[in-house]
Amino acid sequence: MRTICCLTLLLFTACDDTESATQDDAAAMIEPDAAPPQPDATPPEPDAALEDPLLEVSGIEPAIDHDPTPGVVEFHLRAARKHILIARDMAYEGYAYNDQMPGPLLQARIGDEIVVHFTNDLPEPTTIHWHGLRVPNDMDGNPRIQTPVQPGETFTYRFIARDAGTYWYHPHVRTNEQLEKGLYGPIVIQRAEEPEYDLERVLVLDDILWDEDGLPPFLASMPERMHGRFGNVMLTNGRAEAIPGTAKQGQVELWRIMNTANARTMSLEIDGASFRVVGTDGGPLSEPYETDQLLVPVGQRYNVEIRYDEPGTVSLQSLLPRRNAVGQIEFVPFTMFEVEVEETGDSMREVPFVAGEPLPFRRTNTEAELVFDAVNGPNGLEWQLNGQTMPEDPLFTFQEGDTVRFTLVNKQAPEHPFHLHGQFMTITPDGRAATEQPGLKDTVLVPGRSTVEVTAYMDNPGRWMAHCHILEHAALGMMAEFVVEDAD
Ligand code: C2O
Ligand code: CU
Repeated sequence: MRTICCLTLLLFTACDDTESATQDDAAAMIEPDAAPPQPDATPPEPDAALEDPLLEVSGIEPAIDHDPTPGVVEFHLRAARKHILIARDMAYEGYAYNDQMPGPLLQARIGDEIVVHFTNDLPEPTTIHWHGLRVPNDMDGNPRIQTPVQPGETFTYRFIARDAGTYWYHPHVRTNEQLEKGLYGPIVIQRAEEPEYDLERVLVLDDILWDEDGLPPFLASMPERMHGRFGNVMLTNGRAEAIPGTAKQGQVELWRIMNTANARTMSLEIDGASFRVVGTDGGPLSEPYETDQLLVPVGQRYNVEIRYDEPGTVSLQSLLPRRNAVGQIEFVPFTMFEVEVEETGDSMREVPFVAGEPLPFRRTNTEAELVFDAVNGPNGLEWQLNGQTMPEDPLFTFQEGDTVRFTLVNKQAPEHPFHLHGQFMTITPDGRAATEQPGLKDTVLVPGRSTVEVTAYMDNPGRWMAHCHILEHAALGMMAEFVVEDAD
């Protein structure tokens, strides 16, 4: 039984015991914030002047591009143990890329070649997966294809940035542990022409299960095996302490929001400003849309345009479920990030929208069904796809160019954010506002005991993973593969 009730930073506390914590319980909540913007550490390089500078993105320090050649970005990433501070008096022994948690922001332009020289200084093997980017099959970090990088060894990842948008990277070996320990970072791929916002921010949202001894053991509790590992501390850009941002009335910003938690779907609201969604997992939308709430399952990203019409406080709230005094679940808004908007009396600056390529209509030419279920196996709870725990052989074979009507059937109560590697999909609208989510996705939420239909575009040949992004579900079997056969 674990309680963390006496921290000085607590906004409010639900003295929870993690043994009986469920998806519906949120424990101690600490006012988080975003890390302050970091100065650009890139030294001036002669050839770089030939290109327009990359967008300045606030929130996470960028990695240095070591290759001045236009069209090539070259990064060094090193994974190693790290004593990680998430607040003034809260730390744990974790892992980090380049001693940063989250890892450095990787930035490139569409069409660039991205080269990442990776060094594994962890005490265990690992790989890097470029979540959402359509990379060549052998660069995807799938440990069944790429022999994991052993401790002390290096590997060079090399691929072309085919798609603009907000992406992220993380390991794909013992992912539920390595990611929770701190191995994840954002990627921003920009188009030749981007809207000129007053500021772009990256907001990496996470939660972490923390106590004074650090990170409690993994997969040790029934709720963790059942619902995934829910944290008791909310993190924004790796921090659990508030450092508000600043802005001016009349300004327009882009927030690149991503959920890198192991399991927690975030229900987000933005108070104090008007906003609209301009991009999703697969990049810029052809038409922006407005919404009151963003439901962001783990793995997904949203690009949101924020308009500071009024002075005052603008906040990004996550609605956290909590048990009230009489045992009912209620949702409590919790501030993940906050901006103080200074009064200027200025009217709103107009930032012309730069539309993404509309998705060409494609008739589905094949169908597939994926059933999400659980069984009690010899070692306890197992999560299954189409009746198999961690199937060895690919579940499906498609042809390059196939447009697949995928029916995702969830037989049990826990939800599953379903992630496809190497390809995009769209959610087929079903008329319910909650599932009305335009744009390309690489991760789609399949709520408990329900069916979701998606259209998947099999345009990238190879043998790819398809799994639940609740990392504990994936670790306990909900991890499969499919093949896309080369057209020639
Ligand atoms: Cu972000 Cu296979 O994962
Ligand atoms: Cu799942």
